[in-house]
Amino acid sequence: MSEGLCEVVFTPGGQWVRVAPGSTVREAAAAAGVPLDYPCGGHGTCGKCRIRFVENAPAPTNHDEQVIASNDLAQGVRLACCARVMTSVVVEVPTASLLAQSYKILTEGIEESGAVADPVICKKHVELGSPTLGDDVSDLQRLMHVAGARKAGLSLLRELPSRLRTWGFAGTAVCADGLLLDFEEGDATATCVAAAFDVGTTTLVGVLVDCVNGAVLARASRLNPQTRHGDDVLARIQYSRENREGLPHLQQAVIGAINDMIAELALEAGVDREHIYEAVFAGNTTMQHLLAGVDPRALGEVPFVPATSESLYVSAMELGLHIHPRAHAYLFPIIGGFVGGDTVAGALAAHFDDAEGPVMLVDIGTNGEIAVKRQDRLWAASCAAGPAFEGARITHGMRAAAGAIEKIRLGSDVSYEVIGGGRPAGICGSALIDVAAELLRSGLLMPEGLLLAAEDAPDAVPQALRDRLVPGEDGTQFVIARAAETATGAAITLTQGDIRELQLATAAIRSAMLTLLKREGLAPSLIGALLVAGAFGNYIRLDNAQRIGLLPPDVPREKVSFIGNSALTGARMAAMSRSARVRAERIARQTEHVELSLDPDFHSAYVEAMFFPPE
Ligand code: FES
Repeated sequence: MSEGLCEVVFTPGGQWVRVAPGSTVREAAAAAGVPLDYPCGGHGTCGKCRIRFVENAPAPTNHDEQVIASNDLAQGVRLACCARVMTSVVVEVPTASLLAQSYKILTEGIEESGAVADPVICKKHVELGSPTLGDDVSDLQRLMHVAGARKAGLSLLRELPSRLRTWGFAGTAVCADGLLLDFEEGDATATCVAAAFDVGTTTLVGVLVDCVNGAVLARASRLNPQTRHGDDVLARIQYSRENREGLPHLQQAVIGAINDMIAELALEAGVDREHIYEAVFAGNTTMQHLLAGVDPRALGEVPFVPATSESLYVSAMELGLHIHPRAHAYLFPIIGGFVGGDTVAGALAAHFDDAEGPVMLVDIGTNGEIAVKRQDRLWAASCAAGPAFEGARITHGMRAAAGAIEKIRLGSDVSYEVIGGGRPAGICGSALIDVAAELLRSGLLMPEGLLLAAEDAPDAVPQALRDRLVPGEDGTQFVIARAAETATGAAITLTQGDIRELQLATAAIRSAMLTLLKREGLAPSLIGALLVAGAFGNYIRLDNAQRIGLLPPDVPREKVSFIGNSALTGARMAAMSRSARVRAERIARQTEHVELSLDPDFHSAYVEAMFFPPE
């Protein structure tokens, strides 16, 4: 063994690495290629990066002691982000601590297809006459005139004379919104493709679209690899601030993943990557900054100012994208520091700008975004719901990945469904909402968030449910799955602290909605349509979301629509249509950004929303 280094072996995977004494398990895992998940960015607060030292466990850190039960500490369980390796060790990695590879990602949005009336990318097969003494127009002018282009770059110009003469002054001109992008051999009009991406904080979703008929040719998705540097945008901003190479690191991570997706999409669609002529991206403000490699630090400080709120139309090559070398990338315009291009794209997809009557668009996530339109007025705000819906800061919470309980019902006893089947390892956000709603209905959970002890349960509560109310460290906890049923061998419970986290997340979303509606003097019952966007919104049950007050209970059921990944739909629309981009720009310009922290109504609405609605 190298002098002075400690050998770290990870089980059950068998990866091993030698590191300097004092390295964290996180550093060792990164070097050994063990994909641990760090939902809080490695700050020792979420408790999700647990590993177990088979022997020679270091003394627990303060963070360990705060989030790990004492009997687990005695067994050698520690946080990978905090524990330091001082000698050679064997480290056991539970499945629940791995960055889930089978994360449930929503790739569908509202479908719109049919001929594209005003495509951004156009291909035209042209047959130009050869120059003569009487017709000595330059090569470029000759081609641009017929192709309807207004400009061209130097790299194409360098190749044009020889291509024109080799191909007998015939071929296919490729134009992107007036820019002559390429001149291809023969009639190549059949393949005219662009890519569109929803760049989420947690997930990336992309499609390849046919620019002529609007058809989706391929879909791909994956976790945003930046998640290893924190679950939310603030953790990413902090990473870029604290590490000299932080920003290029984050940019390369997301571009690398997008390039992998492009390769996958091209393969699935049977298209050469060089025949993808444009890429469109919709993401939240921070994600768009990081994608473009623009310093996001000001987004992490009051007054949260973006580097630009305009759309960007930049060289794809400069971004590092592996598509056509002269292609461009379009990044959506944004509304504010925390209301980004994804909200604009979602509003575009939902035809928010054309809507009659009061409409509300809500995207529920770690960062919730809400937009309201009434007549020609548009308002938008964001709220920090926190990562509870992603499973972070919930005792047995996890992302919506294989092994997560995603649905819970209470009847004579608990019944649940697990993603991928098999034994559960934790609960994800939709199940968290379910269990809270069901506990409220059964009278076991009080509007202020108190979980009753078994002896205080209403008489009508079945004994099997009553038996699941057990004392915990912070009050009563509800046992969702007993130790013998789970994949981890530990019971999956809902604690009083978990309920508190849910109340905080719910209150943030609901109070933001109510504050925006109040600006227009509207009660929730007067909304003409409530559009719920985003991956999480698609998996929740409406009656349960309304029961806990995440969505206003007084909006009639028939007025609520789940519109899926509307950011991706909007990106796809902008990839195909020039008028869609014009509309997106108009939506961004017309929408007034509301800074909720400055709105006096928000604080009182928030305090009120901390209570679950009465039955
Ligand atoms: Fe280690 Fe959150 S506690 S990543």
